[in-house]
Amino acid sequence: MLDVNDVTVDLGHRVLVRGATFRVAPGEKVALVGPNGSGKTSLLRTIAGELRPTSGTIKVPEHYGWLQQDVQARPDDAHEVALRHLLAARDTAALAEELEGARRRVESTTGVQLERAVRRFAALEERFRTLGGYRAEAEARRIAAGVGLPDAGLERRVGTLSGGQRRRLELARLLYAGGELLILDEPTNHLDLDAKAWVMQFLRTSRCAVLVVSHDIALLDDAVDRVVAVDRGHLDVYKGTYSEFLAQRSAREAQRAKDVRLYNERVSRLKATAERFRHGNENVARKAKSIDKRLEHMAKSAPVALSPRFASPTRHARATSCWLPTGWPSRTAARGSSPTSRSRSGAVSTFSCSGSTAPARPRSCGSWPASSTPTRARSARAPTSRSASTRRSTRTSATASPCSTTCESGPTASPTETCAQCSATSG
Ligand SMILES: Nc1ncnc2c1ncn2[C@@H]1O[C@H](COP(=O)(O)OP(=O)(O)OP(=O)(O)O)[C@@H](O)[C@H]1O
Ligand SMILES: [Mg+2]
Repeated sequence: MLDVNDVTVDLGHRVLVRGATFRVAPGEKVALVGPNGSGKTSLLRTIAGELRPTSGTIKVPEHYGWLQQDVQARPDDAHEVALRHLLAARDTAALAEELEGARRRVESTTGVQLERAVRRFAALEERFRTLGGYRAEAEARRIAAGVGLPDAGLERRVGTLSGGQRRRLELARLLYAGGELLILDEPTNHLDLDAKAWVMQFLRTSRCAVLVVSHDIALLDDAVDRVVAVDRGHLDVYKGTYSEFLAQRSAREAQRAKDVRLYNERVSRLKATAERFRHGNENVARKAKSIDKRLEHMAKSAPVALSPRFASPTRHARATSCWLPTGWPSRTAARGSSPTSRSRSGAVSTFSCSGSTAPARPRSCGSWPASSTPTRARSARAPTSRSASTRRSTRTSATASPCSTTCESGPTASPTETCAQCSATSG
């Protein structure tokens, strides 16, 4: 299904993710978590084909939906009525038009042609029924209502909707379209509490595989099969529910902190010894150099502390979509732009996996053909001279220390320093 293999995402000034490897199996619910700015969106954009990985390969299923974190104007949809835009997410919309054409033909045809026209109408009608065409509009309206877009909004033209309504429409469109995989970047942004709960319940009961970044991920909790945590460029994959992840993460944090402490103590001892030797005779000074080399070698595999779980959501006045525990008040992102989304569900799914269309009464989705679904493989482009030079600069920055605050925007010259961004924010 989704196969991410040894992927590196390098934006030029910084390697965001290095050697990322994970899979999402059919129907699996996977949460992608990490501190602000750790590269979650960039990784999703890479998976969705918007960014090219610097190295590695990604296989995505043929039918997938992609909801972006940030808004992008879509002037081409502006004149479309919202309901029509929503319904067009499934190919039953095109089929409905075809069916209507066939019906008109039956009405206007006589003689031998009539029998053919009737047969065609019957075949189309059968297909339309099988695909749930007659239920489609009601289902689409239920989903729109669930995400907080009532009927009145659906009658308006897309261009007249507010940014928030527009995002809800795109979210509804994505959930309505279904597909084998939904890639969702903060789908609950700008939703009220009821709509948030509705969306999470929808995902919980959906037959689609889901890869989701959300600061409301705790609402999915036991529906989560796997958590992928991005931390300082590395991916850690945790099997189990979100609560289990929180517990495992605590244990890993403690162990990693201990490893770092022991490493630092050892480095300090070796450095002190080297300093003493450095001022001795030639023989002893040679020993100091050999210790220096050993230290250099050790630095290559130095343990890195995991980010503290409770990263301050307010530091950069943005929402944090990291591993907040259940009950932590979620904050709405204050990025300045209203969110939007874009469905990339390709040839829109004829096998919806809408799961529940109303949380109170979950329905299982229609199943899609069991035949092996064609996958699209993307591999990294050959490194260009630009990426080669950025890799060089990354190696340099990798030896610097991360910011001592939780922003990780670092690097700074020493582990106790705060990066320029944090200094500016804290005034
Ligand atoms: N197109 C770009 N060009 C340059 N830098 C970028 C670009 N997109 C993102 N960045 C930077 O890369 C880093 C990671 O950004 P990204 O949006 O992927 O993180 P994130 O984990 O999704 O953050 P958040 O939790 O705030 O949504 C940030 O420092 C960001 O400023
Ligand atoms: Mg993001």
